[in-house]
Amino acid sequence: MTDRSIAFVTGAAQGIGLATAERLARDGFRVVAMDRNGARVEQEAANLRARGLDVLAATVDVCDRASVVAALDAQPRVDAMVCAAGIYNDAQFLDLTEEAFRAMLEVNVIGTFIPAQEAARRMQAGGRIVTISSRGALGGTRFAHYVASKAAVIGLTRAMAMELRDRQIAVNSVAPGFTDTPMTRSAPPDMFAAWEGLEPGGKAASPEVIANAIAFLAAPTTHFITGQTLFVDGGKSLGGLGI
Ligand code: NAI
Repeated sequence: MTDRSIAFVTGAAQGIGLATAERLARDGFRVVAMDRNGARVEQEAANLRARGLDVLAATVDVCDRASVVAALDAQPRVDAMVCAAGIYNDAQFLDLTEEAFRAMLEVNVIGTFIPAQEAARRMQAGGRIVTISSRGALGGTRFAHYVASKAAVIGLTRAMAMELRDRQIAVNSVAPGFTDTPMTRSAPPDMFAAWEGLEPGGKAASPEVIANAIAFLAAPTTHFITGQTLFVDGGKSLGGLGI
C-alpha cells in the first residue's frame, strides 16, 4: 500500500512513455509503467527503482481490456492516467491498406479509449487523464492513417472532458512534434535526419521535453484546464515553414 498519488502510464517501456514514468515518479507519484513489451518495461521499472523512484511494471496490451483492468485493480486507486502507447508506420495514401488503417486505429484510438475509460471509472474528483495526440493530427503526407488516428484522439479527449467535467476529472492531450525516441529512430538515419531538418531549429524534441508538458497536465496542482490539446512542437503547428 502507498499513500502517494498513483499514476499509470501506457507505452512506458521506452520513449515518451518511459520519460513520463520517470518524471511523474520524480514529481512524487507512485507510477505503474504499463507496456505490452513486458520484459522491457520490467527492466526499465527496475532501473528506476534502483534510482530510488517508486515505479512498478505491468504487462498490458492497451487493446486488451482485461489486461488494463488487472493492472488498475492491483492498486488501491487511480489518480492519473497517461495514454502514451501508440504505433506509427508510413504508407502513401494511394497504397494504404484497410488492414494497416484498422491496426493504426486499434492501437492509437481504441488503445487510448480503453485505459482512459477504465481509469475514469475508478477516479475521484481531481483525477487527471492525459492522452497523446501528435502535431501530425493537423495533416501530413505518407501517413494518412496515423493523421486520422491522432485527430481522433483530440476529438475523444474533448468528448471525455465534457462528460467527466462534472466529476472534476480533467482530460487533456499533448500533441508532440517530431521527438527523438525509438519510434523515430527506427527510421533509416538519413530519413531521421531529413525529418529532423524540417523541425523549427532543425532539432527533434527530447522525450523529457514532452514529459514535462504531460506532467503539467497530470499534476493535481493544475486546475481549470480540460479538453485542451497542448502542441509541444517548437511552433511547427503554427505553419509558415513552407510545408
Ligand atoms: P515508441 O515506439 O518509442 O514507444 C511506444 C511504446 O508503446 C513501446 O514501448 C510499445 O511497446 C508500446 N506499445 C505499442 N503498442 C502497444 C499496445 N498495444 N499495448 C501496450 N503498449 C504498446 O513511441 P514514442 O515515440 O515514445 O511515442 C509515444 C506516443 O507519442 C505515441 O502515441 C506516438 O504516436 C506519440 N507521438 C510520438 C512522436 C514522435 O516523434 N516520437 C510525435 C508525436 C506523437
